[in-house]
Amino acid sequence: MKFFLVKPALRLRGKIVLLGDKSIACRSIIISAISNGKTVIKNFPANKDCLYALRALRKLGVRIKEDAKDKNAGRVTVFGKGLEGLKKPKGPIFIGDSGTTLRLTLGILAGQNFSVTLTAGRGLSQRPMLRVSAPLRMMGAEISARRIPNTQHPTPNTKFEEYPPIRIKGGDIQPITYKMPLASAQVKSAILLAGLYAKGVTRVIENVKTRDHTERMLRLFRAGIKVKQNTIVIKERRELVSPAEIFIPGDISSASFFIVSAALVPGSEVLIKNVGLNPTRTGVIKVLKRMGAKIQVPGARCQVPGFEPMGNLIVKSSQLKGTIVKEKEIPSLIDELPILMVAACYARGKTVFEGVGELRVKETDRIRSMSANLIKMGARIRVIKKDKSEDLIVYGVRELKGASVKSYADHRTAMSMVVAALRARGVTRIDDVACINKSFPNFLTLLKALLH
Ligand code: S3P
Repeated sequence: MKFFLVKPALRLRGKIVLLGDKSIACRSIIISAISNGKTVIKNFPANKDCLYALRALRKLGVRIKEDAKDKNAGRVTVFGKGLEGLKKPKGPIFIGDSGTTLRLTLGILAGQNFSVTLTAGRGLSQRPMLRVSAPLRMMGAEISARRIPNTQHPTPNTKFEEYPPIRIKGGDIQPITYKMPLASAQVKSAILLAGLYAKGVTRVIENVKTRDHTERMLRLFRAGIKVKQNTIVIKERRELVSPAEIFIPGDISSASFFIVSAALVPGSEVLIKNVGLNPTRTGVIKVLKRMGAKIQVPGARCQVPGFEPMGNLIVKSSQLKGTIVKEKEIPSLIDELPILMVAACYARGKTVFEGVGELRVKETDRIRSMSANLIKMGARIRVIKKDKSEDLIVYGVRELKGASVKSYADHRTAMSMVVAALRARGVTRIDDVACINKSFPNFLTLLKALLH
């Protein structure tokens, strides 16, 4: 096996521009596919997950044109088919490991009058699906999936869990009022998309607010959607109208690896341009600022009113200190927890992450992958099991040493370990970094350009 070696960095300096946000990009394909009209999507990221979203919608009969000028960030044109214009595919659709594509596509398939089987890659086939199949069944979709006794996953009140492959037959969709049993933007989005097809008003009530990209995009496509505090209401059967053009802001989850690198490596200063600054995603900036990071956000703006805000970030190195991250903040930084664990190791004092149980069901069990790796590098980490979730305590040891670590085939574990290694003593070996292509194919190229 070919190991990837990371040496300590002297400092990071320069400017980077990031590819479009993966969550928003997947939604832009799915929603423009069921709208009326042509949508040109700019700054579309050519990562694996987003390419699987393109492929899935093409298999459902949607014409999608890719402009191949730049192999990383392209322009994609989707020729919308309207709410009911999707076609039954010839065979099963393989979704790769894109959880967002799988769960959101189930939402629109709930409204189609044919059956489809969705199959997934090795990683996604291990991730729980009952959280989305249960509400879609309540709405009238017929769904069957691989069932296994529920020994570990936290979907409440069930003796079994469901995994891909999933077969869904949609059609006659009824509205529901659904109180979310867990914080998941993918589940919320699947219900809202299915709600577009229901004969009546669908309501989703969130306990804790999760990323609202679906709500913003549905509004942009003139759906009948209203949001009042934590309740989202979607009106019955209204055709979506394409806004003609969408610009996908830079991915804040990708940005977080550079924010933490620049904060940790002394003498660094990095400018990150056009980053998505949707308040439901900026938890990482808030927490790092609380930890003493020097992050300037000189003016966020919405290009289209009510759509996604974006802006530039300037990050300079500083000494971090520990903090407490409350459970209600977790959804706003769920994908940034691995890199925040790295930041916490180098901070002064302890950092507590409350209610992080959902980390167990990401691309890998990230509590396990990150703890095992960081402990090998000299970190001190404690996991406290609670009734329904888990807390994580990371003690600020302030110095880590190079070690041989593993990506566990998880893109965010791999990138977090690269960043941990930049400030460590000695060389770090990572077993496999190809998984980074899932979200951020040019991560290593951008990083190398900043190292001086
Ligand atoms: C996502 C929501 C989150 C996040 C995932 C992307 C989305 O997952 O972790 O990377 O695009 O809606 P959950 O909905 O499972 O919390």
